[in-house]
Amino acid sequence: ILGLFGAMVAVIWKGSTLLATGEIATGELFSFVIYTVFIGGTIGGMADVFARVQKFIGATEDLLEIFNEVPEPVEELKNLLPEQILHGGIRFEQLSFSYPTRSDFQVLNNIEVEIKPDSLVALVGPSGAGKSTMVALLLRLYEPTMGRILFDGTDNQVIPLSVLRSQMAIVPQDIFLFGGTIRENIAYGKTDASDTMIEEAAKKANAWEFISKFPEGLETLVGERGTQLSGGQRQRIAIARAVLKNPKILILDEATSSLDSESERLVQDALEKLMKGRTSIVIAHRLSTIRQADQILVLDHGRIVEQGTHEELLKDNGLYRNLSELQFAG
Ligand SMILES: Nc1ncnc2c1ncn2[C@@H]1O[C@H](COP(=O)(O)OP(=O)(O)OP(=O)(O)O)[C@@H](O)[C@H]1O
Ligand SMILES: [Mg+2]
Repeated sequence: ILGLFGAMVAVIWKGSTLLATGEIATGELFSFVIYTVFIGGTIGGMADVFARVQKFIGATEDLLEIFNEVPEPVEELKNLLPEQILHGGIRFEQLSFSYPTRSDFQVLNNIEVEIKPDSLVALVGPSGAGKSTMVALLLRLYEPTMGRILFDGTDNQVIPLSVLRSQMAIVPQDIFLFGGTIRENIAYGKTDASDTMIEEAAKKANAWEFISKFPEGLETLVGERGTQLSGGQRQRIAIARAVLKNPKILILDEATSSLDSESERLVQDALEKLMKGRTSIVIAHRLSTIRQADQILVLDHGRIVEQGTHEELLKDNGLYRNLSELQFAG
């Protein structure tokens, strides 16, 4: 911009000396200045075009990389066989893990945990302790470096991925709704869901009230180009999605950002309903969730350092007590 401005000043200055010596007419100088502005503007714009081309090349490279990925073996799943139905028991057995990209750094260290069917487990610990990693291993997004994970006593390696994932749902920390209708966002992964089923799920998630207020109801477009939903509303859509899926194992990465108290109450209430009758594993930040947990796992530097209920751990005077004084908000 500065260069362009400088060039223009130079052109006008040179032009006016030419004008003074009578070599060009005023009109000519005027058109010349206009052209300079046009051409300068276009050249300035070229930088932007160039940046876009580079972005495009980068994105294409990423896409090609994705195309080259070997797909995970997930077969079409219509109905689960009786022996494939999970009961919600989970066991981490002497599990250690490092990310393939950082094999020298052990993220999880000899994790030994037993989770009972239908229990509520709260995973707590400082940032970077390995909580999300534990959940990723549960979903089999990665394979353990050592040890194993068992579901109802069965090694997860012998359970087909589709069988496993069809019975698990995750409500993530940052909820991303894709561009589409509310219906599509709730029925995601369950395209055969009827209107009544979707409405039921939305009601259980305390989402029906705000959905039904939209003139277009379930057909309301959301996402980048659609109606912007509040954080609490998005969370309730994600909860409705999980309700509809009716998983045996529910994973919840609690949001750290707090909602206003009314929204918070609606989300909390919907979550409590959702957690009933299934195994729930919550990466917890709210004291209210942690208090209810049947089992709290305190993770620090990839190790389970404490394990027990809220009351038990408070007595221990360890990391949990410290964390609960510092971190967990009402
Ligand atoms: N994809 C990855 N590749 C390599 N290292 C990773 C990857 N994801 C996480 N890590 C590392 O693993 C460790 C545990 O990370 P993790 O995300 O499990 O922590 P966390 O307990 O969930 O933390 P937070 O509370 O901040 O979410 C960290 O040291 C992190 O830097
Ligand atoms: Mg995390």
